[in-house]
Amino acid sequence: MRLLIKNATCVLPSGLAAANILVDDGKILGVDPPVSARADEVIDAAGKHLIPGVIDDQVHFREPGLTHKEDLRTGSMACAKGGVTTFLEMPNTKPATITCDRLHEKLDLAASKSVVNFGFYVGATSDNIEDLQAAKRTPGIKIFIGSSTGDLLVDEQAALERIFAETTLPITAHCEDETTVRANAERLAGGKTLADHSRIRDHAAAEIATKRAIDLAVRHKHRFHVLHVSTAQETELLRDARPFVTAEACPHHLFFNVKDYGRLGSRIQMNPSIKTAEDGAALWQALLDGRIQVIATDHAPHTLDEKSKPYPQSPSGLPAVENSLALMLNEVNLGRCTLEQVVHWMCDAPARVWDIVGKGRIAEGYDADLVLIDLAKTATIRDEEQVTKSRWSPWDGVTLTGWPTHTWVGGRLVYAEGRFDEAVRGREAFFDHSRGGYWT
Ligand code: DOR
Repeated sequence: MRLLIKNATCVLPSGLAAANILVDDGKILGVDPPVSARADEVIDAAGKHLIPGVIDDQVHFREPGLTHKEDLRTGSMACAKGGVTTFLEMPNTKPATITCDRLHEKLDLAASKSVVNFGFYVGATSDNIEDLQAAKRTPGIKIFIGSSTGDLLVDEQAALERIFAETTLPITAHCEDETTVRANAERLAGGKTLADHSRIRDHAAAEIATKRAIDLAVRHKHRFHVLHVSTAQETELLRDARPFVTAEACPHHLFFNVKDYGRLGSRIQMNPSIKTAEDGAALWQALLDGRIQVIATDHAPHTLDEKSKPYPQSPSGLPAVENSLALMLNEVNLGRCTLEQVVHWMCDAPARVWDIVGKGRIAEGYDADLVLIDLAKTATIRDEEQVTKSRWSPWDGVTLTGWPTHTWVGGRLVYAEGRFDEAVRGREAFFDHSRGGYWT
């Protein structure tokens, strides 16, 4: 099937350009062919922008084991609505993805259920080095250096040294120092209010763990991606991070701060915790000057019933994949960043960090994972309209201008203005780690 998307303003690697895009057999066949190019279907996208599909390199889709919160069908549909055409999912499912067999089971499950493209990390434990060494078909190894949802945790120095020394896949980690978190929790008698969550999982916890992980990466010359940077102090650690370290910021740390607990309560209870407005400003600055390369969501759904338990029984995590792109497009409209920067942070940079072949750009030969956006469309996020199985958003009631309207996965239209083609299936992303990552 040949598809021609004509008259859109496209975000190309060279910048914004009015161009027609010709798609054949799931790939981009031509950038700016004549408008008369032969096609089975023609979409006139005048007045809209076309961008590469978003690659969200940190989501928790809960399958297997916790599918009352989310599953690969609902999570991937939320992606399609949000303009996310590829997700990379974390290993803290039940059972956790800590062996090659479990990794392959997840890949098979996603091939049968996911409407967008997918990849899955392999989780580290203190004694699964053989699996970490043997794993293929994965973006990399995930270490919980601090514990979060689930029971994955590796915080003994000897085990961490071994993982960095004896494996070759890129490594990423949840960085909150377990010793600091436990000491803070004891001091605060476990915590009584949500504000205590940010005192328990405090600035020092994030900074100590991120420093420790960067030190491991640099000493072992091992590629390492810092997930969900949440403090100004961590952004300082990223100043001399080349060539081994890349980093990510999440919308909840960019848009919320501790003052929002009063208004939003456990809806913004996250690990790493929400920090101050000054930390949020430091994250923005680090994105703008290139110390942080990637924006991803850490989409971590729990039901509202679970979230309504009193702290600390309320679980940490919030859903975000269906609104992350719109949140950033709204910032483009506010003049805080450009559309090209958003495409860099959300499409091209994650493809480069994880060596994903054929994704992240609108260029000939690349996969036709494409998103049409309407920068003038204004809409309000509503819990009841969310596609995530958890059916809520921490941005409920927030009005944004700039929304994805159409999403193609491998040249097939999976989402168009509120409607899904649930028959579309995404594909396993292909990681070619010989590419050497973001800095090469
Ligand atoms: O708050 C969080 N929840 N942070 C994580 O890193 C994990 C996540 C989850 O899986 O619920």
